[in-house]
Amino acid sequence: SSVDSHVLVIFGASGDLAQRKLIPAVFDLFRGGYLPEKFALLGASRTDFTDEDFRKKVVFDNEHFEQKDASDDDVKTFSEKLFYQDLASYDGEKDIEALAARLIKLDEEYGVGKNYIFYLSTPPKLYSTIPGALAKAGLNESEEGWSRLIVEKPFGYDEESAVKLNKDIQSYFRENTIYRIDHYLGKETVQNLLVTRFANGFFEPLWNRNYVQSVQITAAETVGVGSRGGYYDESGAMRDMVQNHLLQVLAHVAMEPPIRADAPSIRDEKLKLFKSLRPITKKDVKNQVVRAQYTEGRTKSGDVVSYRDAEGVPSESKTETYVGMKFFIDNWRWAGVPFFVRTGKCLPLKLTEVVITFKNPPQALFSEYDDYAMSCDNQLIIRIQPDEGMALEFGMKVPGEGFRVKNVDMDFFYRDLTKNDVPAAYTRLLLDCMKGEPTLYARGDSVEAAWAFIDPILKAWEADEVPLYSYTAGSWGPLQADALWKGEGSGWRNPS
Ligand code: BG6
Repeated sequence: SSVDSHVLVIFGASGDLAQRKLIPAVFDLFRGGYLPEKFALLGASRTDFTDEDFRKKVVFDNEHFEQKDASDDDVKTFSEKLFYQDLASYDGEKDIEALAARLIKLDEEYGVGKNYIFYLSTPPKLYSTIPGALAKAGLNESEEGWSRLIVEKPFGYDEESAVKLNKDIQSYFRENTIYRIDHYLGKETVQNLLVTRFANGFFEPLWNRNYVQSVQITAAETVGVGSRGGYYDESGAMRDMVQNHLLQVLAHVAMEPPIRADAPSIRDEKLKLFKSLRPITKKDVKNQVVRAQYTEGRTKSGDVVSYRDAEGVPSESKTETYVGMKFFIDNWRWAGVPFFVRTGKCLPLKLTEVVITFKNPPQALFSEYDDYAMSCDNQLIIRIQPDEGMALEFGMKVPGEGFRVKNVDMDFFYRDLTKNDVPAAYTRLLLDCMKGEPTLYARGDSVEAAWAFIDPILKAWEADEVPLYSYTAGSWGPLQADALWKGEGSGWRNPS
């Protein structure tokens, strides 16, 4: 479906996310011919800018704005669709009245109409206030068009605050106009998980407790917290990566087939999956979840100081930069299959992948020829990033006498499928919202269910009931995380 004329209002437009991701994504849409002819982007924030200042900051002087093959004229035409409205306090009714007046003026001058997307890219404490003010000004629903609200992460700080936030914004905007963004859902390879599973006849029959030994999901980063220490220390790896991004990836790996490939059906299955996660109670935390912080070391991104010495991080900080965990899904498909998830800063590689390890055949027929044949792992490795693609590992006979077995892999690279650049996550997601297509956004109930799973772990950590380990920057994390695999086979896959 095509995109209606509209105005995209970005709150927090002078911030980091707008510069790094949002404006470049809107430019991609412009270059691809996806934007409607009548379109305006209205940046709003506290900085005192003119339209020209704003264009300069987010387009002409923005180091993240890549012109690629676009001409200077294209860039100029694009920049003329950008406008700016300063807001003294965000919650002041006056501000939103001024914003409402500006929207009417934009329509009068440019005929951009009365459809609106409001993008919240501000500090989270404004996530309730702004929708409230928009509702008061009548911008939450319009008789002459549509209004949609995009909410950035973090969506809540724990279960209680997420429930409250949902309640607040749902009292101002209808649920089907609320778009909770999780940029991992915008990644092609995360969407491709659904196609791999449900468009092929041979994976799905194996995708269950009868054939799967374990499932592991890794999101490793080489960078430390850099200059984001202030934000990160309030968050930590669990809130920053696991509660949102990695549980979303898990849902795509483990959910039941939806009855249709539409938003309600897919979102219903995800909710069911989150509800079937076996709770990790406070007393299970020490056996199933490992938290750790990096100490000084060397990574591919260079030398790093200890997390506690990073800018903006208190020297006594107990915030985790690594999480490794093991858990179960209590449903028919997955009963008894262990799931492992880990993520960390300052690990040896930047890599996100899912590994499905299949059970061994019932007999080790060739073991007298080779010890290796006993441990020949049948694994499906789904590389979310980089080198997007998939590899299937299995045993083959080594040419020559006897029956020696060797692991080989069939490797597919996603980039071979298209000549075009794979669209960036934010580009895809923004376009979906413009079209009114919510499938790749998180629904309120499933965000709450994901929090319900994570919350007891955070509570146990806060109560200091389990140790905080450390790992040297540049290593694969604390040794204690290897112990999670005891009795469960293959162990973490640590590619080099
Ligand atoms: C963000 C986190 O949501 O995701 C960052 O706040 C993290 O800490 C980033 O680095 C990872 O995203 P990607 O797309 O680079 O894997």
